[in-house]
Amino acid sequence: MQPATAIAHPNLAFIKYWGNRDDTLRLPSNGSISMTLAGLETRTRVVFDPSLKSDELSINAEPASDPALERVRQVLGLVRGMAGLSSYAHVESENNFPTGTGIASSASAFAALALASTNAAGLDLTEADLSRLARHGSGSACRSVPGGFVEWEAGSGDQDSFAVSIAPPDHWDLVDCIAVVGTEPKSTGSSQGNMLAGTSPLQAARVEDAPRRLEICRNAILKRDFEALAEIVELDSNLLHAVMMTSRPALFYWKPATLAVMQAVRQARSAGMPICYTLDAGPNVHVITPLTEANQVTGLLHDLLGVQDVLKATVGGPARLA
Ligand code: DP6
Repeated sequence: MQPATAIAHPNLAFIKYWGNRDDTLRLPSNGSISMTLAGLETRTRVVFDPSLKSDELSINAEPASDPALERVRQVLGLVRGMAGLSSYAHVESENNFPTGTGIASSASAFAALALASTNAAGLDLTEADLSRLARHGSGSACRSVPGGFVEWEAGSGDQDSFAVSIAPPDHWDLVDCIAVVGTEPKSTGSSQGNMLAGTSPLQAARVEDAPRRLEICRNAILKRDFEALAEIVELDSNLLHAVMMTSRPALFYWKPATLAVMQAVRQARSAGMPICYTLDAGPNVHVITPLTEANQVTGLLHDLLGVQDVLKATVGGPARLA
């Protein structure tokens, strides 16, 4: 069978996914909205080979850990079922961005895997079906299949829980300036954290209010209204971390420098700069600003104590075959 290679970008959520209605199917408790990150990418090559005794996976040229291989096997199993194949696959995946910097590599990895593996199996899936398939590997991966600004509708079940593009990459020149304050591996990964969301007494309120935040965020993107975007993005990030900090066990991802960056961003916005922050399951701070301000923002972040590096990503396109 012919090998296939696909490339996908990670994404940054403006309205976050945290907690599932169904952990096995990765059906989220609430919808989410993200921006696809250009320049950063996972490249994945898949070949189904009848001589293999089991699925094989390498990440950045190293054999993958058992949990990573298990997640990949689940997706490959779905692809085999759809294509009527019995062969195992050899998968090679490489990221061009550093791990542990607060950029979820599972999103770009499973989006690239969905596209490469279906293609290698001789299937030609719609974008919606690829997004659904990627969701089974990692929830946020469904948002790395379409490009630009993307919304994952929670849906009512497996069939209608997938992501769509709500605006193309050139709709709005936003930049994600990532202030790196720590690169050590996180103690609790997103999958485990997602399962703890329901133990926080605040999760129900966060989920109940999500449709309102999604609407404000969607409208802010469509109207390119930075002020409205900034307010809702920071509120959503604060709600996510309030849930994390009040879960059992409690999850604290911040470092002192994380809070220092958040405070500097709030201060700069009060002084009139278009800038806002958002954080995922890690200490690094994603600082959003229009392209015109990106150099000034990068300088501001570099000058803060505890900031080791600043990475920059503009708005990226959909997953594609190489
Ligand atoms: C905080 O998609 O990484 O980044 O489905 O278990 O792989 P799994 O979780 P994952 O969770 C992402 C959580 C987040 C918010 C977001 O990206 O929406």
